Amino acid sequence: MEAIAVCAAQALSDGGLAVRRDALFYGRSASVFFVRFQGVAYGYLNQCAHVPTELDWVEGQFFESSGLYLMCATHGAIYLPDTGRCVGGPCRGGRLRPLVVEERDTPDGRQVFWLPDEHVIPVPISST
Ligand code: FES
Repeated sequence: MEAIAVCAAQALSDGGLAVRRDALFYGRSASVFFVRFQGVAYGYLNQCAHVPTELDWVEGQFFESSGLYLMCATHGAIYLPDTGRCVGGPCRGGRLRPLVVEERDTPDGRQVFWLPDEHVIPVPISST
């Protein structure tokens, strides 16, 4: 599947707000999110390992206050931003579903790209 341009690289700041995109997970409506941590862009399915619900109550707010961990707003599960592994809270032993993310230089500047797999794909853009 072809790479999907997500956003300009500078739109993701270290420990800052995420960029969300609508997606299909095994054909069901879902969302994914992209963050930057220690200079590297990461992407995950927006679904907690505790209960399959979205992590963010405030859209795009995935990092907790220290900017070191991703946190689920529902019951406070804590995940490592670089691996998605759960390190605290009720998700212990679980992990976020990672996406393949790359940053590439383009004629429009450096961009973040999502390389979808067969199970998590972008919502098809409808033609009008
Ligand atoms: S749903 Fe995320 S911690 Fe419970």
